[in-house]
Amino acid sequence: MYVCNCNGIRERQVHQAIACGASTAKAVFDHVQCRPQCARCVCDIREMIDEAQVALQQAAE
Ligand code: FES
Repeated sequence: MYVCNCNGIRERQVHQAIACGASTAKAVFDHVQCRPQCARCVCDIREMIDEAQVALQQAAE
């Protein structure tokens, strides 16, 4: 499933970027070597980062 239609960034790629330490939407774009265009996907990417951080915190408890 595509998260960013402008750049063809898939959900899997965002998860990989987060696993590699990306903690901001910009870091995710840097990881996949793209730049935001319309930026409609930025909120979705931020939500994915937040969800991953919550999951990590819960796993640590
Ligand atoms: S959907 Fe990601 S920049 Fe447009």
